Amino acid sequence: MRAVIRGIGSFLPADIMTNEDLSKRVETSDEWIQERTGIRQRHIASEGQYTSDLGYEAAKRALDDAGISAADIDLIIVATSTPDLTFPSTATIIQEKLEMHHGAAFDVQAVCSGFIYGMHVANSLIRSGGAKRILLIGAETFSRILDWTDRGTCVLFGDGAGAVVLEGVEAEEAGVLQTFIRSDGRHRDMLYVDGGPSRTQTVGHLRMLGNQVFKHAVTDIAQVIRDCAEQAGVAVADIDWFVPHQANQRILTAVAKRLKLRPEQVISTVAYHANTSAASVPLAMDCAVKDGRIKRGDLVMIEAFGGGFTWGAALLRY
Ligand code: ACO
Repeated sequence: MRAVIRGIGSFLPADIMTNEDLSKRVETSDEWIQERTGIRQRHIASEGQYTSDLGYEAAKRALDDAGISAADIDLIIVATSTPDLTFPSTATIIQEKLEMHHGAAFDVQAVCSGFIYGMHVANSLIRSGGAKRILLIGAETFSRILDWTDRGTCVLFGDGAGAVVLEGVEAEEAGVLQTFIRSDGRHRDMLYVDGGPSRTQTVGHLRMLGNQVFKHAVTDIAQVIRDCAEQAGVAVADIDWFVPHQANQRILTAVAKRLKLRPEQVISTVAYHANTSAASVPLAMDCAVKDGRIKRGDLVMIEAFGGGFTWGAALLRY
Protein backbone atom coordinates (compact mmCIF):
# COMPACT_ATOMS: atom_id res chain seq x y z
CA MET A 1 0.00 0.00 0.00
CA ARG A 2 1.16 3.50 -0.84
CA ALA A 3 -0.38 6.77 0.35
CA VAL A 4 -0.94 8.94 -2.74
CA ILE A 5 -2.06 12.56 -2.73
CA ARG A 6 -5.42 12.39 -4.44
CA GLY A 7 -6.42 16.03 -3.84
CA ILE A 8 -4.95 19.24 -2.48
CA GLY A 9 -6.47 22.59 -1.44
CA SER A 10 -5.74 25.67 0.62
CA PHE A 11 -7.38 28.72 2.09
CA LEU A 12 -6.21 32.16 3.18
CA PRO A 13 -8.31 34.67 5.12
CA ALA A 14 -9.27 37.73 3.04
CA ASP A 15 -7.66 40.37 5.28
CA ILE A 16 -4.09 41.26 4.31
CA MET A 17 -1.62 43.03 6.59
CA THR A 18 1.32 44.58 4.73
CA ASN A 19 4.71 45.47 6.18
CA GLU A 20 3.64 49.09 5.84
CA ASP A 21 0.58 48.36 8.03
CA LEU A 22 2.86 46.75 10.63
CA SER A 23 5.20 49.70 10.69
CA LYS A 24 2.31 51.72 12.12
CA ARG A 25 2.05 49.29 15.08
CA VAL A 26 5.71 48.59 15.95
CA GLU A 27 9.04 50.22 15.18
CA THR A 28 9.92 48.44 11.96
CA SER A 29 9.96 49.07 8.21
CA ASP A 30 9.06 47.33 4.98
CA GLU A 31 12.74 47.50 4.04
CA TRP A 32 13.94 45.75 7.26
CA ILE A 33 11.33 43.00 7.07
CA GLN A 34 11.93 42.29 3.38
CA GLU A 35 15.70 42.34 3.72
CA ARG A 36 15.79 40.03 6.78
CA THR A 37 12.91 37.71 5.92
CA GLY A 38 11.62 38.20 2.36
CA ILE A 39 8.13 38.78 3.78
CA ARG A 40 5.97 41.47 2.13
CA GLN A 41 2.56 40.70 3.61
CA ARG A 42 0.57 38.15 5.64
CA HIS A 43 -3.12 37.15 5.81
CA ILE A 44 -4.89 37.62 9.14
CA ALA A 45 -8.06 35.82 10.26
CA SER A 46 -10.93 38.18 10.97
CA GLU A 47 -12.74 38.38 14.29
CA GLY A 48 -14.88 35.28 14.72
CA GLN A 49 -12.88 33.34 12.11
CA TYR A 50 -11.14 30.41 13.79
CA THR A 51 -8.51 27.82 12.92
CA SER A 52 -11.29 25.29 12.25
CA ASP A 53 -12.92 27.70 9.75
CA LEU A 54 -9.68 28.02 7.77
CA GLY A 55 -9.07 24.27 7.97
CA TYR A 56 -12.63 23.50 6.89
CA GLU A 57 -12.33 25.70 3.77
CA ALA A 58 -9.00 24.11 2.82
CA ALA A 59 -10.47 20.64 3.44
CA LYS A 60 -13.46 21.31 1.17
CA ARG A 61 -11.11 22.42 -1.62
CA ALA A 62 -8.93 19.32 -1.21
CA LEU A 63 -12.01 17.06 -1.27
CA ASP A 64 -13.30 18.85 -4.41
CA ASP A 65 -9.89 18.46 -6.03
CA ALA A 66 -9.99 14.72 -5.22
CA GLY A 67 -13.54 14.46 -6.56
CA ILE A 68 -14.81 12.87 -3.36
CA SER A 69 -16.82 13.94 -0.31
CA ALA A 70 -16.28 13.68 3.45
CA ALA A 71 -18.39 10.49 3.31
CA ASP A 72 -15.40 8.81 1.61
CA ILE A 73 -12.89 9.77 4.34
CA ASP A 74 -12.15 7.53 7.33
CA LEU A 75 -9.83 9.78 9.31
CA ILE A 76 -9.14 13.49 9.75
CA ILE A 77 -5.76 14.62 11.11
CA VAL A 78 -5.28 18.31 11.84
CA ALA A 79 -1.81 19.70 12.45
CA THR A 80 -2.12 22.86 14.53
CA SER A 81 -0.63 24.69 17.51
CA THR A 82 -3.44 27.25 17.54
CA PRO A 83 -6.52 25.10 18.17
CA ASP A 84 -9.93 26.78 18.48
CA LEU A 85 -10.09 25.55 22.08
CA THR A 86 -7.88 23.58 24.48
CA PHE A 87 -10.27 20.74 23.72
CA PRO A 88 -12.07 19.22 21.86
CA SER A 89 -9.57 18.86 19.05
CA THR A 90 -9.86 21.15 16.05
CA ALA A 91 -10.06 17.95 13.99
CA THR A 92 -13.37 16.96 15.60
CA ILE A 93 -14.70 20.50 15.09
CA ILE A 94 -13.85 20.29 11.38
CA GLN A 95 -15.34 16.76 11.28
CA GLU A 96 -18.63 18.21 12.52
CA LYS A 97 -18.47 21.11 10.02
CA LEU A 98 -18.00 18.58 7.22
CA GLU A 99 -21.08 16.70 8.56
CA MET A 100 -18.90 13.61 8.82
CA HIS A 101 -20.45 11.40 11.49
CA HIS A 102 -18.32 8.30 11.00
CA GLY A 103 -14.61 7.54 11.31
CA ALA A 104 -12.29 9.43 13.63
CA ALA A 105 -10.47 12.74 13.96
CA PHE A 106 -7.55 13.98 16.04
CA ASP A 107 -4.96 16.77 16.22
CA VAL A 108 -1.19 16.53 15.92
CA GLN A 109 0.93 19.20 17.64
CA ALA A 110 4.48 19.68 16.40
CA VAL A 111 4.33 23.45 15.77
CA CYS A 112 5.72 24.37 12.32
CA SER A 113 6.62 20.69 11.64
CA GLY A 114 3.04 19.57 12.31
CA PHE A 115 2.14 18.84 8.70
CA ILE A 116 5.26 16.65 8.24
CA TYR A 117 4.46 14.81 11.50
CA GLY A 118 0.87 14.40 10.30
CA MET A 119 2.14 13.03 7.00
CA HIS A 120 4.32 10.54 8.91
CA VAL A 121 1.32 9.34 10.95
CA ALA A 122 -1.05 9.25 7.96
CA ASN A 123 1.45 7.39 5.79
CA SER A 124 2.07 4.80 8.54
CA LEU A 125 -1.66 4.25 9.03
CA ILE A 126 -2.36 3.84 5.31
CA ARG A 127 0.60 1.51 4.77
CA SER A 128 -0.41 -0.66 7.72
CA GLY A 129 -4.06 -0.84 6.60
CA GLY A 130 -5.25 1.28 9.55
CA ALA A 131 -7.00 3.77 7.25
CA LYS A 132 -7.93 3.98 3.58
CA ARG A 133 -8.49 7.69 2.98
CA ILE A 134 -7.16 10.40 5.28
CA LEU A 135 -7.82 14.12 5.19
CA LEU A 136 -4.61 15.74 6.45
CA ILE A 137 -4.98 19.43 7.27
CA GLY A 138 -2.52 22.06 8.46
CA ALA A 139 -4.40 25.07 9.88
CA GLU A 140 -3.24 27.95 12.03
CA THR A 141 -4.19 31.36 13.41
CA PHE A 142 -0.79 32.40 14.78
CA SER A 143 -2.02 36.02 14.82
CA ARG A 144 -3.87 35.03 18.02
CA ILE A 145 -0.68 34.07 19.94
CA LEU A 146 1.60 36.88 18.79
CA ASP A 147 2.77 39.67 21.06
CA TRP A 148 1.90 42.56 18.76
CA THR A 149 4.34 44.81 20.65
CA ASP A 150 7.34 42.52 19.94
CA ARG A 151 8.77 43.51 16.56
CA GLY A 152 11.15 40.54 16.63
CA THR A 153 8.29 38.06 16.25
CA CYS A 154 5.05 39.75 15.17
CA VAL A 155 6.38 40.57 11.70
CA LEU A 156 7.09 36.93 10.88
CA PHE A 157 3.76 35.09 11.02
CA GLY A 158 0.40 34.86 9.26
CA ASP A 159 -2.79 32.78 9.23
CA GLY A 160 -3.93 30.14 6.73
CA ALA A 161 -4.67 26.49 6.03
CA GLY A 162 -3.80 23.76 3.55
CA ALA A 163 -5.05 20.20 3.16
CA VAL A 164 -4.43 17.00 1.25
CA VAL A 165 -6.50 13.87 0.71
CA LEU A 166 -4.25 10.83 1.07
CA GLU A 167 -5.51 7.55 -0.37
CA GLY A 168 -4.09 4.05 -0.07
CA VAL A 169 -3.36 2.47 -3.45
CA GLU A 170 -1.47 -0.67 -4.38
CA ALA A 171 1.50 0.60 -6.32
CA GLU A 172 5.25 0.05 -6.50
CA GLU A 173 6.52 3.61 -6.48
CA ALA A 174 3.82 6.22 -5.98
CA GLY A 175 2.75 8.72 -3.36
CA VAL A 176 4.67 9.04 -0.11
CA LEU A 177 8.00 7.23 -0.51
CA GLN A 178 9.62 8.14 2.80
CA THR A 179 8.97 10.22 5.88
CA PHE A 180 11.56 11.17 8.50
CA ILE A 181 10.79 13.03 11.74
CA ARG A 182 13.06 14.34 14.49
CA SER A 183 12.81 16.35 17.70
CA ASP A 184 15.13 17.55 20.47
CA GLY A 185 13.47 18.96 23.59
CA ARG A 186 16.70 20.52 24.87
CA HIS A 187 15.99 23.53 22.66
CA ARG A 188 12.45 24.18 23.84
CA ASP A 189 13.34 27.58 25.34
CA MET A 190 14.45 29.02 21.99
CA LEU A 191 10.94 28.99 20.57
CA TYR A 192 7.89 28.55 22.76
CA VAL A 193 4.59 30.04 23.93
CA ASP A 194 4.69 31.42 27.49
CA GLY A 195 1.21 30.23 28.45
CA GLY A 196 -0.86 27.07 28.61
CA PRO A 197 -3.71 25.45 30.52
CA SER A 198 -1.63 23.55 33.06
CA ARG A 199 1.14 26.03 33.77
CA THR A 200 -0.49 29.46 33.53
CA GLN A 201 -4.17 28.94 32.70
CA THR A 202 -3.65 31.46 29.88
CA VAL A 203 -3.08 31.14 26.15
CA GLY A 204 0.25 32.98 26.22
CA HIS A 205 2.41 34.59 23.53
CA LEU A 206 5.04 33.28 21.17
CA ARG A 207 8.63 33.90 22.32
CA MET A 208 11.70 33.26 20.22
CA LEU A 209 15.46 33.69 20.07
CA GLY A 210 15.36 34.38 16.34
CA ASN A 211 19.03 34.20 15.44
CA GLN A 212 19.54 30.94 17.42
CA VAL A 213 16.50 29.37 15.74
CA PHE A 214 17.86 30.47 12.38
CA LYS A 215 21.18 28.62 12.84
CA HIS A 216 19.58 25.38 14.04
CA ALA A 217 16.95 25.53 11.29
CA VAL A 218 19.46 25.75 8.43
CA THR A 219 21.66 22.92 9.75
CA ASP A 220 18.86 20.57 10.79
CA ILE A 221 16.74 21.07 7.66
CA ALA A 222 19.66 20.39 5.32
CA GLN A 223 20.52 17.23 7.30
CA VAL A 224 16.97 15.87 7.47
CA ILE A 225 16.55 16.30 3.71
CA ARG A 226 19.75 14.30 3.17
CA ASP A 227 18.60 11.63 5.67
CA CYS A 228 15.15 11.33 4.14
CA ALA A 229 16.53 11.05 0.59
CA GLU A 230 19.13 8.51 1.68
CA GLN A 231 16.53 6.31 3.41
CA ALA A 232 14.42 6.45 0.25
CA GLY A 233 17.45 5.50 -1.87
CA VAL A 234 17.13 8.70 -3.91
CA ALA A 235 19.87 11.23 -4.68
CA VAL A 236 19.05 14.81 -3.65
CA ALA A 237 20.08 15.84 -7.20
CA ASP A 238 17.23 13.73 -8.66
CA ILE A 239 14.45 15.54 -6.75
CA ASP A 240 12.33 17.82 -8.94
CA TRP A 241 10.80 20.17 -6.37
CA PHE A 242 11.45 21.28 -2.81
CA VAL A 243 8.50 22.58 -0.82
CA PRO A 244 10.01 23.95 2.38
CA HIS A 245 8.30 25.31 5.45
CA GLN A 246 7.94 29.02 4.70
CA ALA A 247 9.66 30.68 7.68
CA ASN A 248 12.16 33.06 6.17
CA GLN A 249 13.54 33.46 2.62
CA ARG A 250 17.06 33.55 4.04
CA ILE A 251 16.57 30.09 5.58
CA LEU A 252 15.22 28.76 2.27
CA THR A 253 18.16 30.24 0.35
CA ALA A 254 20.78 29.00 2.84
CA VAL A 255 19.39 25.43 2.79
CA ALA A 256 19.20 25.45 -1.02
CA LYS A 257 22.84 26.57 -1.20
CA ARG A 258 23.99 23.78 1.15
CA LEU A 259 22.17 21.15 -0.91
CA LYS A 260 23.20 22.70 -4.26
CA LEU A 261 19.58 23.18 -5.32
CA ARG A 262 18.66 25.53 -8.14
CA PRO A 263 16.60 28.48 -6.79
CA GLU A 264 13.80 27.74 -9.29
CA GLN A 265 13.35 24.25 -7.77
CA VAL A 266 12.46 25.75 -4.38
CA ILE A 267 8.81 26.74 -3.97
CA SER A 268 8.62 30.01 -2.05
CA THR A 269 5.43 31.74 -0.92
CA VAL A 270 6.90 33.37 2.17
CA ALA A 271 6.67 36.85 0.59
CA TYR A 272 2.87 36.63 0.43
CA HIS A 273 1.92 34.21 3.25
CA ALA A 274 4.68 34.81 5.85
CA ASN A 275 5.12 31.91 8.29
CA THR A 276 1.80 30.06 8.68
CA SER A 277 3.38 27.30 10.81
CA ALA A 278 1.78 23.88 10.13
CA ALA A 279 -0.22 25.32 7.22
CA SER A 280 2.79 26.59 5.28
CA VAL A 281 3.86 23.42 3.45
CA PRO A 282 0.42 22.42 2.06
CA LEU A 283 -0.31 26.08 1.24
CA ALA A 284 2.93 26.42 -0.74
CA MET A 285 2.47 23.04 -2.39
CA ASP A 286 -1.09 23.87 -3.44
CA CYS A 287 0.16 27.10 -5.08
CA ALA A 288 2.80 25.21 -7.07
CA VAL A 289 0.32 22.48 -8.11
CA LYS A 290 -2.35 24.99 -9.15
CA ASP A 291 0.09 27.17 -11.15
CA GLY A 292 1.29 24.07 -13.02
CA ARG A 293 4.85 23.81 -11.70
CA ILE A 294 4.39 20.56 -9.73
CA LYS A 295 2.94 17.91 -12.06
CA ARG A 296 1.77 14.33 -11.53
CA GLY A 297 4.78 12.02 -11.39
CA ASP A 298 7.21 14.70 -10.14
CA LEU A 299 9.47 13.85 -7.21
CA VAL A 300 8.78 16.32 -4.39
CA MET A 301 10.58 16.82 -1.05
CA ILE A 302 8.66 18.63 1.68
CA GLU A 303 10.29 19.70 4.94
CA ALA A 304 9.74 21.76 8.07
CA PHE A 305 11.37 22.92 11.29
CA GLY A 306 9.71 24.38 14.37
CA GLY A 307 9.34 24.74 18.12
CA GLY A 308 10.49 21.90 20.35
CA PHE A 309 12.67 21.72 18.32
CA THR A 310 10.84 19.48 15.91
CA TRP A 311 11.80 18.92 12.30
CA GLY A 312 11.26 16.48 9.49
CA ALA A 313 10.94 15.77 5.79
CA ALA A 314 8.88 13.64 3.45
CA LEU A 315 9.65 12.51 -0.10
CA LEU A 316 6.75 11.85 -2.42
CA ARG A 317 5.95 11.06 -6.02
CA TYR A 318 3.09 13.52 -6.66
N1 ACO B 1 12.21 45.69 12.60
C1 ACO B 1 13.33 46.38 12.83
N2 ACO B 1 14.32 45.95 13.62
C2 ACO B 1 14.15 44.74 14.19
C3 ACO B 1 13.00 43.96 14.00
C4 ACO B 1 12.00 44.47 13.17
N3 ACO B 1 10.87 43.81 12.90
N4 ACO B 1 13.13 42.81 14.71
C5 ACO B 1 14.32 42.87 15.32
N5 ACO B 1 14.94 44.03 15.02
C6 ACO B 1 16.24 44.51 15.49
C7 ACO B 1 16.66 43.92 16.79
O1 ACO B 1 16.10 44.62 17.88
C8 ACO B 1 18.16 44.07 16.73
O2 ACO B 1 18.46 45.39 17.08
P1 ACO B 1 19.78 45.73 17.98
O3 ACO B 1 20.93 45.25 17.17
O4 ACO B 1 19.67 47.21 18.13
O5 ACO B 1 19.59 44.96 19.25
C9 ACO B 1 18.49 43.88 15.26
O6 ACO B 1 17.24 44.09 14.56
C10 ACO B 1 19.06 42.52 14.92
O7 ACO B 1 18.26 41.53 15.56
P2 ACO B 1 18.48 40.00 15.27
O8 ACO B 1 17.44 39.21 16.01
O9 ACO B 1 19.91 39.63 15.50
O10 ACO B 1 18.18 39.97 13.69
P3 ACO B 1 18.32 38.78 12.68
O11 ACO B 1 19.15 39.16 11.53
O12 ACO B 1 18.65 37.49 13.37
O13 ACO B 1 16.85 38.66 12.12
C11 ACO B 1 14.90 37.26 12.41
C12 ACO B 1 15.77 38.39 13.00
C13 ACO B 1 14.29 37.77 11.14
C14 ACO B 1 13.85 36.92 13.44
C15 ACO B 1 15.80 36.05 12.12
O14 ACO B 1 16.60 35.74 13.22
C16 ACO B 1 14.97 34.85 11.75
O15 ACO B 1 14.24 34.85 10.80
N6 ACO B 1 15.12 33.73 12.49
C17 ACO B 1 14.41 32.54 12.23
C18 ACO B 1 13.25 32.51 13.12
C19 ACO B 1 12.03 31.92 12.50
O16 ACO B 1 11.82 31.95 11.32
N7 ACO B 1 11.21 31.40 13.37
C20 ACO B 1 9.96 30.90 12.98
C21 ACO B 1 9.64 29.65 13.69
S1 ACO B 1 10.85 28.44 13.44
C22 ACO B 1 10.77 28.19 11.87
O17 ACO B 1 9.69 28.27 11.37
C23 ACO B 1 11.99 27.88 11.11
